Amino acid sequence: MTTTSGLAIVTGASSGIGAELARQLSARGQPVLAIGRRGHRLEELSARARSAGHAAVHPLELDVTAEGAALHVRDRARALGGAAWLVNNAGTTHLGPFLDGDPAALTRLVRLNCESVVALCAAVVPDLVARGGGRVLNVASLAAFQPTPGHAVYGATKAFVLSLSESLAVELDGTGVTVTALCPGPVTTEIFDAGAPGVPRKKPSFEMSAEDCAAYGIAAADRGAAVVVPTLVSKATAQLSRVLPRAALRRLSGRIGLSIIGYESTPRRARG
Ligand SMILES: NC(=O)c1ccc[n+]([C@@H]2O[C@H](COP(=O)([O-])OP(=O)(O)OC[C@H]3O[C@@H](n4cnc5c(N)ncnc54)[C@H](OP(=O)(O)O)[C@@H]3O)[C@@H](O)[C@H]2O)c1
Repeated sequence: MTTTSGLAIVTGASSGIGAELARQLSARGQPVLAIGRRGHRLEELSARARSAGHAAVHPLELDVTAEGAALHVRDRARALGGAAWLVNNAGTTHLGPFLDGDPAALTRLVRLNCESVVALCAAVVPDLVARGGGRVLNVASLAAFQPTPGHAVYGATKAFVLSLSESLAVELDGTGVTVTALCPGPVTTEIFDAGAPGVPRKKPSFEMSAEDCAAYGIAAADRGAAVVVPTLVSKATAQLSRVLPRAALRRLSGRIGLSIIGYESTPRRARG
């Protein structure tokens, strides 16, 4: 069963990495079911694909955390001929000390970054298996490899996505369905406007474009890689997380994470 063709479900296709994933998949001939809450952005993506002569982009304006959303996506994909790819990309962040966060917003973050991924995998992967092959591409993060003081809940959600993806990859071995966890470091997108409005952020020198990140993820999913980390600096960082003693890793990660979001020292409440 070919896996470089067939419908691709892409969540979070209205901006950033997801919009690029949708654009690049459609440009190479895969129809896309493009999901997000901002329907006008999806319509624009669809119109651009049409005028470029690319495969169809079908907009689906949907909050993936809504009750029944995953089954709705599965049914829409079935109506379009069945999915060959599931790209769980929709996500957001929360920058700032945990105790300064709005508890409801932090809970919503977990619902989006973790629960919706579980629900969509549970709804769609059985169809990929029944089809005899397919690709699951879960967008995790470099933040998955270590604790992330300064964006504690975000890092925890991405560790969840990485762990889930690796376990699924093993469980699906032999079915023709592969699962890839894409773990980028910083990428230039709207995520920081959404997850940290007004928080000044120092842009790291190794930040990559959404276009390069999406291309890297698609190539990795094509070859069925389980875990991929784009850019040399990010690869080295992920490797460091494996070899450093956990206590040293926590301290280092805290210093870097807090300084990136403009906190020069450990926040007041965390000093203890
Ligand atoms: N940018 C980075 O530095 C970076 C690094 C590592 C990993 N990532 C991961 O990359 C993924 C994409 O993020 P991005 O950087 O491209 O950010 P982005 O530009 O803010 O895109 C986030 C996407 O998620 C969608 N989304 C948010 N809440 C949603 C909901 N409830 N239902 C449906 N769609 C929803 C947004 O669409 P609507 O607002 O229209 O719903 C948007 O299309 C995320 O999982 C993120 O954690 C990003």
